[in-house]
Amino acid sequence: MYLTRQEEEMYGGSEGPAVQKSMEILVALGDIYEAERLVDITSAQISGVSYKTIGDAGMEFLEELAQDTQVRVPSTLNPAGVDLEFWKELGFSEDFTRKQLRIVKAYQKMGVTTTCTCTPYLVGNVPKLGDHIAWSESSAVCYANSVLGARTNREGGPGALSAAICGKTAEYGYHLDECRKANFMVEVEANLKGADYGALGYLIGKTVGDGVPYFKLLNCTPSVNDLKHLGAALGSSGAVALYHVEQATPEYKNALKDVSIGEIEKITVDRSNIDETRYELSTTNRKPDLICTGCPHASLDEIKTISKKLVGHKLKAQLWVCTSISVKVAADRMGYSKIIEDAGGKIVCDTCMVVAPIEELGFEVIGVDSAKAANYVPVMCGLDVIYDDLEKLIQ
Ligand code: F3S
Repeated sequence: MYLTRQEEEMYGGSEGPAVQKSMEILVALGDIYEAERLVDITSAQISGVSYKTIGDAGMEFLEELAQDTQVRVPSTLNPAGVDLEFWKELGFSEDFTRKQLRIVKAYQKMGVTTTCTCTPYLVGNVPKLGDHIAWSESSAVCYANSVLGARTNREGGPGALSAAICGKTAEYGYHLDECRKANFMVEVEANLKGADYGALGYLIGKTVGDGVPYFKLLNCTPSVNDLKHLGAALGSSGAVALYHVEQATPEYKNALKDVSIGEIEKITVDRSNIDETRYELSTTNRKPDLICTGCPHASLDEIKTISKKLVGHKLKAQLWVCTSISVKVAADRMGYSKIIEDAGGKIVCDTCMVVAPIEELGFEVIGVDSAKAANYVPVMCGLDVIYDDLEKLIQ
C-alpha cells in the first residue's frame, strides 16, 4: 500500500507508540483488503464501549492507550453498558458500573465525545454526502452509507479507534464507487408500516449477506426512522453496510448505473413473507414484563410519538425508551419525558437492551419494535422477545 512521507513517519513511530500501533492496524487492514492507499476521514464512531462486551482486557487496553494519545477527528462513542447517571435507579450493579465508568473515562481522555449512542447522526456527528468516515456499529454504518451517502466500511472497534487516532482509514470497500453498486433488486409487493420495515430488513439481510440491496417499495415513502430500522435489521441478520431505496436514498440513481442484468439478482417480497418474518422474530407469546424501544436509539420525533400515546395513562408493564443524553435533554425541554415518566415509563440514556446486563434485572420477556433487538436479545441476554409495532406493545 502506498503511504505518503508523513504516513510513513507515523508508521515508523515518529508520533509515539499509540499512533504507530494504530497505523500498523490500518496498514494491516489495507493489505488484507488490497487497498492502494489511505484516505483522510472526517469523523469516527467507535464501538467497543460496554463492559459487558469488552471486559477487563478491553478496559485495561483502553486505559493504557489513553496515556499518550488523542483522536484527530470528531469522534463519538457507541452505547455503554449502563445509564451513566441513573444506573442505580435502574438496578445496575455498582461493580459493573465502576468498570464501565473507567472505560468511558479512557475514551474521554483520548478526546472522544462520550455521547454513548448508536445514532451519532442525531447528536451532531453528521457526515456529508461523499465524506470518508470510519464508523463501527452496524446500524450507524448502514445509516451513514445509505441515508447520508457518506462512505465507510463496517469497522470494528479497534479499526475505528485507530482511524480516529490517525485521522485516516484504508481506502477499500464502500469507500470506492464500484463497491456502492447494487447487486440485489428487492421488489416489495406490500404496503409497509411500523415493524414491517425491520422485518423486511431482517428477511433480506439473511438472504443477501454482505450484498448491496436496492429496494423498490410499493406506494410507501419511508421516513428516516423507517430507514433507520430497515438498515439496523439488514446489518444484524446479514452484514449489509449499504442499501438503496428508489426515490428515497441519495445514491439510488447511481446504484444501477452500468450494472448489467446478469450482475443483479431479483428478490420479490410479498405480505405473507413480511408476516412470517414478524412471527419468526418473536420467541414466545407470553406477555412482556418490559417494553424496550429505541434500538437504534430513539429520535426526538419517536419520543414525541410515544409521549402522545401515553398522555393520561398509567403503564402496567415497565417501559424503557433508550436514547442519547442529548436527545433526552431536548425531550425534557419539550415536556415529552415528563409525560412518559408520569405514565410510569423511563427514558434510559447511554445504553440499550442488548449491551446492558439486562438479564441480571429479573426480566423474562421483553417486547421490542426493533428487529435488530429481537435478533440479539435472546442470544446476548438469554431472554424471550415479542416483536411488534410499538403502538401494540404499548397497548
Ligand atoms: Fe443501538 Fe443497542 Fe440497538 S447499540 S442499534 S440500541 S442493539
